[in-house]
Amino acid sequence: MPKAIALLGPNGQVGRAIQEALPNVTPIGREIVDLSNPLSLRGVDFSGFDTIVNCAAYTKVDLAEEEPDSARAINATVPGVLADIAERTGAVLVHFSTDYVFDGTKEVHTETERPNPLSVYGSTKHIGDVMALGHERTYDLRTSWVIGDGSNFVRTMLRLARDKKQPPVVNDQFGRPSFTTGIAHAVSHLLHERPEFGLYNVSSAGERTTWFEIASRVFDLAGAPAGSVTPTDTVTHFGDRAHATRPVHSTFDLSKISATGFGLNDWEIDLVEYVEHELRQGA
Ligand SMILES: NC(=O)c1ccc[n+]([C@@H]2O[C@H](COP(=O)([O-])OP(=O)(O)OC[C@H]3O[C@@H](n4cnc5c(N)ncnc54)[C@H](OP(=O)(O)O)[C@@H]3O)[C@@H](O)[C@H]2O)c1
Repeated sequence: MPKAIALLGPNGQVGRAIQEALPNVTPIGREIVDLSNPLSLRGVDFSGFDTIVNCAAYTKVDLAEEEPDSARAINATVPGVLADIAERTGAVLVHFSTDYVFDGTKEVHTETERPNPLSVYGSTKHIGDVMALGHERTYDLRTSWVIGDGSNFVRTMLRLARDKKQPPVVNDQFGRPSFTTGIAHAVSHLLHERPEFGLYNVSSAGERTTWFEIASRVFDLAGAPAGSVTPTDTVTHFGDRAHATRPVHSTFDLSKISATGFGLNDWEIDLVEYVEHELRQGA
C-alpha cells in the first residue's frame, strides 16, 4: 500500500481522477516543474515518496506532428528521467501508454503485441513505455479514448447536442472508451495488490464501438432528436487538414488485468453514468 505518492500531471483528466481515488497524493504540477525541460525534474526532491505516478503527457496528437521535439521531451524523455529517479529512490513508477503505439491492423491488442506507431505522438509514447519499463518496479497502464474531467469527446458531443448541431462523426475507428474513474481504480488496485510489475491494458469492457456510436448515444441521452449525428469516415472528416494517422483498431484484450482480480465496467454503463452526471452539472 503506497504511503506517499508524487503525482505529475495532476490537472489532466487522469491526474484529477487519481487525486480523487487515492490518498496521500502530492500534486507536482507545471507550476513546480515544466516538463518541456525534462532535466528540470532533477531539481525536485522525490526522496519522501514511495510511488511516482506520471499522468503528464503531450496529448495533442495532431499538433505533435508539427511539434515533435515538445512531444518527444514530455512523452519519451520524461519517463526515462522518472525511471532513473525511481530506481535511485526505490519508488514504484506508474506510467500510462496508449493504443496509438499500434498500427491498428490487429483487431484486438494484447500486451505482447509489437508496437508499430503511425504518428509522432504514438512513437514518442512508445519510446516512453520502453524507458518507463526499464525500471523493474513500473506499472505501465495502456489505455485508450480517455473520458474524464477535462476536455474530451463526450463533453464536445454534449456541447454540440445542447447547441442543436448535427455533426458528422467518424464510424471507421473501432475501440472502447476508458473512463478515468476506472483507470484510477485500476491504479489503486495494482498498487494495493501488487501483481507482477509491467504493462497492463486498461479500458472499459463491453462490445467494441466507434466514435459515431458513442456520439449517437450521447445525443440520445441528451434528448436530441434521432438522426442528429451522421456517420462519416476518417478521410472525409479530415479532408485537407494536416493530422496524425490514427489506428483503425484500438480494442484491448483485458484478460491480463482481469486475471489480477480487477474488473472493468462495461463502457455503456460508464457512459450513461458520466453523461447523467454532466447533465446534472448543466452541460
Ligand atoms: N486522452 C486520451 O484519450 C488518452 C488515450 C490513451 C492514453 N492516454 C494517456 O493517458 C495519460 C493521461 O492522459 P490525459 O488524458 O489525462 O491527458 P491530459 O488531460 O491532456 O493531461 C496531460 C497533463 O500533462 C501535463 N503537461 C503537459 N505538458 C506539460 C509540461 N510541459 N509540464 C508539466 N506538465 C505538463 C498537463 O498539465 P496542465 O494541466 O498544466 O496543462 C496535464 O496535467 C497520458 O499518458 C496519455 O498519453 C490518453
